Amino acid sequence: MAVHMFLLLLVLSVVVADEEPFVGVNIGTDLSDMPHPTQVVALLKAQQIRHVRLFDADQAMLIALAKTGIQVVVSVPNEELLAIGQSNSTAANWVSRNVVAHYPATNITAICVGSDVLTTLPNAAKVLVNALKYIHSALVAANLDRQIKVSSPFSSSIILDSFPPSQAFFNRSLNPVLVPMLDFLQSTGSYLMLNIYPYYDYVQSNGVIPLDYALFKPLPPNKEAVDSNTLLHYSNVFDAVVDAAYFAMAFLNYTNIPVVVTESGWPSKGDSKEPDATIDNANTYNSNLIKHVFNKTGTPKHPGIAVSTYIYELYNEDMKPGLLSEKNWGLFDADGDPVYILHVTGAGAMLANDTTNQTYCMAKDGADPKMLQAALDWACGPGKVDCDPLLQGNACYEPDNVIAHATYAFDTYYHSMGKSPEACDFNGVASISTTDPSHGSCLFSGSLGKNGTFGNITAPSMNSTDSDSSACNLNSCGFTSLTMGIGFLMWGVFLL
Ligand SMILES: *[C@@H]1O[C@H](CO)[C@@H](O)[C@H](O)[C@H]1NC(C)=O
Ligand SMILES: *[C@@H]1O[C@H](CO)[C@@H](O)[C@H](O)[C@H]1NC(C)=O
Ligand SMILES: *[C@@H]1O[C@H](CO)[C@@H](O)[C@H](O)[C@H]1NC(C)=O
Ligand SMILES: *[C@@H]1O[C@H](CO)[C@@H](O)[C@H](O)[C@H]1NC(C)=O
Ligand SMILES: *[C@@H]1O[C@H](CO)[C@@H](O)[C@H](O)[C@H]1NC(C)=O
Ligand SMILES: *[C@@H]1O[C@H](CO)[C@@H](O)[C@H](O)[C@H]1NC(C)=O
Ligand SMILES: *[C@@H]1O[C@H](CO)[C@@H](O)[C@H](O)[C@H]1NC(C)=O
Ligand SMILES: *[C@@H]1O[C@H](CO)[C@@H](O)[C@H](O)[C@H]1NC(C)=O
Ligand SMILES: *[C@@H]1O[C@H](CO)[C@@H](O)[C@H](O)[C@H]1NC(C)=O
Ligand SMILES: *[C@@H]1O[C@H](CO)[C@@H](O)[C@H](O)[C@H]1NC(C)=O
Repeated sequence: MAVHMFLLLLVLSVVVADEEPFVGVNIGTDLSDMPHPTQVVALLKAQQIRHVRLFDADQAMLIALAKTGIQVVVSVPNEELLAIGQSNSTAANWVSRNVVAHYPATNITAICVGSDVLTTLPNAAKVLVNALKYIHSALVAANLDRQIKVSSPFSSSIILDSFPPSQAFFNRSLNPVLVPMLDFLQSTGSYLMLNIYPYYDYVQSNGVIPLDYALFKPLPPNKEAVDSNTLLHYSNVFDAVVDAAYFAMAFLNYTNIPVVVTESGWPSKGDSKEPDATIDNANTYNSNLIKHVFNKTGTPKHPGIAVSTYIYELYNEDMKPGLLSEKNWGLFDADGDPVYILHVTGAGAMLANDTTNQTYCMAKDGADPKMLQAALDWACGPGKVDCDPLLQGNACYEPDNVIAHATYAFDTYYHSMGKSPEACDFNGVASISTTDPSHGSCLFSGSLGKNGTFGNITAPSMNSTDSDSSACNLNSCGFTSLTMGIGFLMWGVFLL
């Protein structure tokens, strides 16, 4: 009993300490012109994306993510799994190099140990639980086990007979791995990581699953899927799969392990045999998914408990082999231009849908140079703008004239003031523009670095984009109120 209570408290404290449900993105890097990590981070900041999952633990990426407030999931690639699962010290080295070396500057919140191991790497499955344990004990040794969760993302295809959800169970031949794994997740307060792809469920169903049901579109009541055992109504595939996972875990007597969806999305383009991989469907799916996570619905089995989800994925990965759709799961192209504009009004500010809606504060053409100089001096002095980039030899020195320098200082000030229109006046010599004045490696506040040519954003301009990240904190507070603090709190109730 004492042990039981302890576990309960452990899980509760983890769950309560955890933050509200969120939507993050996966960052795949199979691009022929993969943006520099600083550009990736500039895009994340501009789009107010505060949770990311990496498929590895790339050092440059982890460094670029430092001090951004962005929460980061790192991954042990499948290629490294065997070694780690067979050697405690290899695991400890991995954690020391890829986690301890970066934490807390980079806010690493979880480690994915391998990916889809059970379905793609049956040989490594044998060492998976050891790998999880070794990684975890290295975190314990570094006193980071409460901040950083350890799990391993699974394909939802390990759940068999997933409809009706109440009859779902895990592929029994995987139980020798799954049972100790669930024990591990439970005792460490971690979560089941699941990749859920209604797109594939729909495509492989040969017409049994209606497209609208996969896309979270409203269904006529007679088309709603009803679980005849529980009489729960399902209006979308995503919820049905999440509930199938809850039921499959409950079938093995695990009832208090939360689910986090590590991958979900929809391709925006496909070849002639993939007619449903369209921009419209991708937009509908991802927009509805985001709204669903931030809505108070939860799943039919656990209403009010939203499932945090990482969208697959940030960039279109043009180097991915396979069908055309494989290269087209991204929200953005390599230049940081959105593939489509999400319809997420009311769901908060996670993805600023409209990247052309960026505004900048510029010196007016033809303004009196003396007044410009006075305003520039004010901005770099009492206005507290970091004007180092304007010094000779620095990124924004050229062109060396008062209009260009004033524009840089005005824009930085304007963004530091949350883009309030009054902050772009400067006695009438400044005005708001929608054209990004960034040039070369001189990146302006608010710039998404669209053209992707500045591989080396200077520290001061990263610093100046910090104004965006504080606005972004504000937004995500506003955002948070829309989300479901209640959701995760209810886990507590659910446990009791
Ligand atoms: C990481 O993010 C979480 C959630 O915002 C926060 O509670 C925690 O303090 C952060 N950790 C670090 C080291 O910044
Ligand atoms: C693995 O290493 C950790 C320290 O990093 C230690 O606490 C633990 O006992 C070791 N486990 C095994 C099975 O050797
Ligand atoms: C269950 O898992 C085993 C081992 O990975 C696999 O061979 C089998 O095809 C799976 N069964 C189903 C129905 O997917
Ligand atoms: C789950 O618990 C029930 C009741 O305690 C027990 O009968 C059943 O065998 C357990 N199932 C598994 C898979 O452990
Ligand atoms: C959001 O919640 C409301 C009320 O619970 C519900 O009617 C609506 O369908 C939900 N929307 C989504 C996208 O889940
Ligand atoms: C951004 O979203 C808003 C609200 O959904 C919409 O009105 C606006 O048209 C979108 N922007 C673009 C460029 O589509
Ligand atoms: C553009 O940005 C402004 C200021 O951030 C915001 O008030 C407005 O709603 C945005 N417009 C669209 C279409 O997103
Ligand atoms: C990218 O930036 C460089 C340097 O400022 C500029 O010369 C080039 O024209 C830009 N390319 C595009 C496509 O905007
Ligand atoms: C990036 O900028 C720094 C400082 O300006 C410079 O030392 C470094 O060589 C640059 N790196 C590249 C790859 O251009
Ligand atoms: C900007 O950077 C400078 C030095 O690079 C640092 O002293 C200052 O605190 C930074 N400002 C912010 C808001 O981070």
